Amino acid sequence: MPRKEHITGLDIGTTKVCAVVGEVDDGEVHIAGVGSVPSSGIRKGVVIDIEATTNAIEDAVERAERMSGEEIRGLYVGISGEHISSTNSRGIIAISRGDHEISPSDVERVIDAARMAALPASDREIVHLLPRGFVVDGHDGVRNPVGMYGARLEVEAQIVTGTSTVLANLLKCVQRAGLEVEEIALEPLASAEAVLTSAERELGVVLADIGGGTTSLGVFVGGGLCHTAILPVGGHHLTADVAVGLRTPVAEAEKLKIRYGAASVQDASEGEMIEVFNVGDREPRVLPRRVLCEIIEPRLQEICSLMRLQIRRSGFGHVVPAGIVLTGGTALLRGIAKFVSEKLELPARVGMPDHLGGLVDAVRSPIFSTGVGLVLHGVRHGGAKAVRTTNGHGIFGRMRGWIREMVGT
Ligand SMILES: Nc1ncnc2c1ncn2[C@@H]1O[C@H](COP(=O)(O)OP(=O)(O)OP(=O)(O)O)[C@@H](O)[C@H]1O
Ligand SMILES: [Mg+2]
Repeated sequence: MPRKEHITGLDIGTTKVCAVVGEVDDGEVHIAGVGSVPSSGIRKGVVIDIEATTNAIEDAVERAERMSGEEIRGLYVGISGEHISSTNSRGIIAISRGDHEISPSDVERVIDAARMAALPASDREIVHLLPRGFVVDGHDGVRNPVGMYGARLEVEAQIVTGTSTVLANLLKCVQRAGLEVEEIALEPLASAEAVLTSAERELGVVLADIGGGTTSLGVFVGGGLCHTAILPVGGHHLTADVAVGLRTPVAEAEKLKIRYGAASVQDASEGEMIEVFNVGDREPRVLPRRVLCEIIEPRLQEICSLMRLQIRRSGFGHVVPAGIVLTGGTALLRGIAKFVSEKLELPARVGMPDHLGGLVDAVRSPIFSTGVGLVLHGVRHGGAKAVRTTNGHGIFGRMRGWIREMVGT
């Protein structure tokens, strides 16, 4: 990697589109610029309006360019939405060469075998193929088999797929904004880069990015991703409930939630009062803050139940001693870590981008975890090269070819 390189992450979220420029200098990542604009073309993590999303991407990138003084072309783009699913796959090959020493091309071959074993349906594309560990002649727990002797090599991999058309719509927006996609990365995987420690990943941890329209989960055990799911619920639902419950416009409900909201009714002390403006803008009503929290709590409880179900479904719920790390804008809700910890019976903390150089203050919020994480993903995984296979077609290379066909460019 050259001494100074710029890597840009693009988080196309339900509430905001945000571009983060990272400057990589001798392996250290400095935040050089951020551009964030409200998004209106995304619903539950998925593009529903190409025009609006394209405009938001252009705006966000332009702002990030101005702040960083760098021209942006290639982007690491986050993907999200309920269409994402993940499965385990296993690849097995024989090491037939005389000396039985495992070479890098054997590793590529076994990963290809895992991919073949899990070829997605024709309307789905592979987004990630993540090796979790290798098995050499029946001995598991091998992190890097290159150089070892063995007759049989197996890989355990996590395969993440998404619906082709949904991915195509997202990539089309980026292309129409005149930008190039370096690689796409799953939102919770990107956020994990920004907020999890390597000790947590080794030990076993759940990452929950609770945004505006989605809650994305990633379960990490032994350093790797074991399960992922994107649930179509988030902070918007809390706001919508407040708007209905207090009969107030959504914009006012959003303000109330942010200013006075809390995860649990217990967080509001007796006698605390808030002012609520009615639809129609008459005199404000004065209500106990408790009433607001009574609306938020059950919805958050529901989100917790959905998370609990997914964690259980992952089959790894019993091996996450590092607990759950919350990020995304909704992680800013008062008392959320305590609430989630009680409901899921796991230790919980709020995570946000940290330990970086440069303009860290501009991104030190759980809202920017995905954007910053995409930059770190680009840096740590060396981009599309990291998933290139022997035949020269990276997972993403294949996908881009297919995307080109689809959008006719
Ligand atoms: N202080 C706060 N308290 C509670 N909620 C907050 C606070 N600040 C922001 N939020 C909520 O966070 C949400 C936005 O978070 P975020 O920016 O992570 O979402 P997003 O990435 O755009 O959406 P998604 O990831 O779901 O596609 C909004 O619902 C907003 O109301
Ligand atoms: Mg998000």
